[in-house]
Amino acid sequence: MPWTRPDNVPYPNVWWTFDAPDPDREDGALATYRVEDLTEDRIEDAVKLYTEHFLDDEPLCSYGRVRHNAVSYEEVVKFWMHVFSEKMTIVCYKEGSKELVGANLLAVKCVNDKTDITGLIKSESMQKLVAVNEYMTDTVNLFERYGVDKYLTAYGLSVNNRYRGRGIATEILKARRPICRAFGLRLSSTNFTAIGSQIPAAKIGFQTDLEMMYDEFVKVNPTYTFEGIKSKSIKLMSLQIE
Ligand SMILES: CC(C)(COP(=O)(O)OP(=O)(O)OC[C@H]1O[C@@H](n2cnc3c(N)ncnc32)[C@H](O)[C@@H]1OP(=O)(O)O)[C@@H](O)C(=O)NCCC(=O)NCCS
Repeated sequence: MPWTRPDNVPYPNVWWTFDAPDPDREDGALATYRVEDLTEDRIEDAVKLYTEHFLDDEPLCSYGRVRHNAVSYEEVVKFWMHVFSEKMTIVCYKEGSKELVGANLLAVKCVNDKTDITGLIKSESMQKLVAVNEYMTDTVNLFERYGVDKYLTAYGLSVNNRYRGRGIATEILKARRPICRAFGLRLSSTNFTAIGSQIPAAKIGFQTDLEMMYDEFVKVNPTYTFEGIKSKSIKLMSLQIE
């Protein structure tokens, strides 16, 4: 049985609030932001956020030109919809505004999960993206290393371009602790593909399990080439929850 969100955890729930600079204020004044569960009525906007503020910037999607290839774009949107349906995706709003400031696609991975999505993915760029992500998690057996039977994972952290550079990704990542506690999870692990997410993750206590330079992947498989990718390495990083 795949993991499902238990009914005893309120939904939608606000997981984290924080103050950070407001891009609409020239005097550098702070605004209050909140991180909460994505709700059904904002799914279309979440797809828009990931399309416009993730696909051309996240190193692997940008390298694979996922937004610009009809097949890979359709596959990635289908994948997001599947992740949204698990009701673990979180979004960030500025108080008093409905604009999506950022989001993180979250999911719970269990040791007995048998879901194999490789058969559903036909485009070369998406196959490569899935393959390197799987290489990372297959190489480090997180279940054994941390002695857990499930953990909170993530499939994409996005901050709206006009809000970047204000510590918002760092704050969104801080929501992992209260989320894990609410669901009784002792571990959160993620493949961080960009320096702009690896730095925030390290700041809040994620430790690196495995780092692979993008140009090292050809040694794993000669087709895993990433010449000219806009990032140095991918890091599988973990946060243990006391
Ligand atoms: C990565 C992303 C989520 C960061 O959001 P953000 O709100 O700007 O992040 P923060 O402000 O919390 O922190 C970013 C940190 O990375 C640093 N950083 C960002 N780009 C960098 C670069 N190219 N080189 C060195 N440091 C960089 C910033 O200086 C900052 O560190 P600092 O606070 O010590 O100065 C955002 O840029 C984004 O949505 N990118 C596109 C999608 C993506 O790549 N997601 C991550 C994939 S796992």
